[in-house]
Amino acid sequence: MSFGPMPIANGFLAPQDIPLDTYRFELATASCKRCRTFQLIDQPPPDKMFHANYAFFSQTSRVMQDHFENFALDIAQRLLARRDDPFVVELGSNDGIMLRHIAKRGVRHLGVEPSANVAAAARNNGVNTTSVFFDAESAANIREQYGPADVIAAANVMCHIGSIRDVAAGIALLLRDDGVLIFEDPYLGEVIAKTSYDQIYDEHVFLFSLESVRAIFGPHGLSVIDVAPQTTHGGSMRYTLGKTEHHEVSSTVTELEVAESRQGLGDDQTYDRFRQSCEASKAALNRLLGELRGAGKRIAGYGATSKSTTVLNYCGIGPELIEFISDTTPIKQGKVTPGTHISVKPPSCFSEPYPDFAVLFAWNHAAEIIAKEKAFLESGGRFITFVPEVGMIQA
Ligand code: TYD
Repeated sequence: MSFGPMPIANGFLAPQDIPLDTYRFELATASCKRCRTFQLIDQPPPDKMFHANYAFFSQTSRVMQDHFENFALDIAQRLLARRDDPFVVELGSNDGIMLRHIAKRGVRHLGVEPSANVAAAARNNGVNTTSVFFDAESAANIREQYGPADVIAAANVMCHIGSIRDVAAGIALLLRDDGVLIFEDPYLGEVIAKTSYDQIYDEHVFLFSLESVRAIFGPHGLSVIDVAPQTTHGGSMRYTLGKTEHHEVSSTVTELEVAESRQGLGDDQTYDRFRQSCEASKAALNRLLGELRGAGKRIAGYGATSKSTTVLNYCGIGPELIEFISDTTPIKQGKVTPGTHISVKPPSCFSEPYPDFAVLFAWNHAAEIIAKEKAFLESGGRFITFVPEVGMIQA
């Protein structure tokens, strides 16, 4: 399905830097009939998305910090315990949010992070980081310099990489024979179940399922040996893979296979229904915001997420409906949203005075945000959501 012409999701710009002719690409998805990989038909070139001014820093949420500390703990306890001088590589290690917990344990490690500014932040966090794109060539260089990897980890990264087959080849090359690949990404089954179409944007070239992960990594000798659902990013899946002959397959894998078949992730009708649900969601959000503005209500946004770029551009929502968006990320503040030009302001502006309504673009952090915005709710303010359905959040 098509979501129309779309700017770069994290392309926040200062008003004076907006070019006359903003770069846009056609945001459209397809589910491969053969391997059921759900993917973007076109993706902008990587250097348009990941560069020295990349606006996404992982360490913006307390819950995410805890999540990545637990991810590191899972790796340390489950995967490194019986290994002698292990070596851990993380792909897309961002500002070191996960790997710093591995580094603190004195474990040999390397972060691979192509965005120079976040890689520099990781080094400041004591995380050994190289700023390159990961592929078969850089994998061979890493292996030559450090030896084979016991664990290769990635979080919210694999789904960003259009050249995933090169990455899979690089992983097969870098991984020790009995090593494991562990990665997590937003899960297709959750996106379909919740109509969370905002997970579809330039960086998310894939939304994985068990079936598609098998189709991509299987040809490189890697089998899925364990799966574990995660609550992060509105519903993710953590996949553990290893070279088939060295590992047993957990029952969680068969259970997920059955669940995917029940949900119809392999059926065309599922994607037709998803398209209809997206269109209905767009109409309902426009209707609600239009009615509230028509009644003179002030509406702000909460969280200038990458996801919000899809919602705002697909639904055609701009400053005439949403006055500003509050966001804690310093690099986004003072800028405007990509394509729709809504001002992004620091959280201090949210309460001066509180708006009547706030569209929760960071809906994946709802619990954390609702807990800390008690004063907004007590002032009579209401959060609006669009996942799984458009409506007010009952706090
Ligand atoms: P994120 O959930 O990572 O979404 P995406 O992957 O779509 O970019 O980003 C959350 C955004 O919301 C980030 O810009 C920081 C912002 N945010 C707030 O402004 N306040 C908050 O309390 C939280 C948790 C996040």
